[in-house]
Amino acid sequence: MGCTVVVGGFWGDEGKGKIISYLAVKDKIDVSVRAGSVNAAHTIYHDGKRFALHMVPSTFVYDKCRLLIGAGANIHVPQLLKEIRETNVEGRIGVDKQASIIESIHSTTDKSDSHSKKIGTTGWGVGPAIQERAKRTAKLASDILDLKQFLTDAAKETNSAIDVGKTVLLEGTQGLMLSLFHGSYPYVTSRDTSAAAVCSEVGVGPSNVDTVLVVYKAFITRVGAGDLPGELSKEDAIRRGWFETAAGTGRDRRSAPFNFELARRVAKINGATEVAVTKLDILYPDSKEATHYDALPKEAKNFIEQVEKATGAPVTLIGTGPGALDIVDRRSSL
Ligand code: IMP
Ligand code: MG
Repeated sequence: MGCTVVVGGFWGDEGKGKIISYLAVKDKIDVSVRAGSVNAAHTIYHDGKRFALHMVPSTFVYDKCRLLIGAGANIHVPQLLKEIRETNVEGRIGVDKQASIIESIHSTTDKSDSHSKKIGTTGWGVGPAIQERAKRTAKLASDILDLKQFLTDAAKETNSAIDVGKTVLLEGTQGLMLSLFHGSYPYVTSRDTSAAAVCSEVGVGPSNVDTVLVVYKAFITRVGAGDLPGELSKEDAIRRGWFETAAGTGRDRRSAPFNFELARRVAKINGATEVAVTKLDILYPDSKEATHYDALPKEAKNFIEQVEKATGAPVTLIGTGPGALDIVDRRSSL
């Protein structure tokens, strides 16, 4: 199965956590690396518990998986240590020594800045932390005593795993429409969120990637400011069952119907080789908890076919409910 990069298709919150935790167990991922920073929350249900992880990779559910945080990532030390305790992964997590550190001053700056308010940032301070990294005044993981036992060369570990044919997964955060380069600037996050950028943050060359899996939700949601084509009123969103609140900040998520033109562009920029569609059951209740493609209603299959046409990639994984195993996995039949 080689090396897979998983990224979000729209404005984040597509359900990457669920898809990645499924792959971790199903494909027995040996090594995984998380990119990005603490602003993203990936939701995972495991052992009857709900986790909203900002730092620890979503693959933690597979207990033989080596968990890494890449050199391009930005680490919130107290949050990371808290999550390490909650997930009980102290013995198998590593942090790249060159990952940068986000400090409480960055959050204070973010929360008091009028431009950040206009953008509607999460308030974690990721923008100010990245500014400091670009100024070359940021602290690195190697400067932090509490991280000493976790320090590693994540790029070296990951490339060695790829070289010996191990199964590797690179975990992207947010979605392409929040990319600093390709998203809805200035209403974006402070880094590129494309598959290529995830590889860059980890230190894996493009020729070593086998699968680029782009995760789309069956409808679109967005938190924070900025244009959202086809945006519904909150009442309409509630009526359709599309209304959500953010896993990280608790804010209302705005929503809109799936956008095929956007999906096409996003697939192209990421170089999608496979696509996942989550929450199909919200659009088509008759697909709830289906685990076989044939069990999906006709309209749901039509929708999936339209997604494949737009993205030019096969829809290999389909989320049909909140449970970890509410998934149609078509990988062996396509
Ligand atoms: P920042 O990344 O906190 O600076 O926020 C910039 C924009 O990205 C805001 O619109 C946030 O709502 C959005 N954003 C950042 N992280 C996430 C995420 O994990 N999911 C959804 N939106 C996010
Ligand atoms: Mg999220």
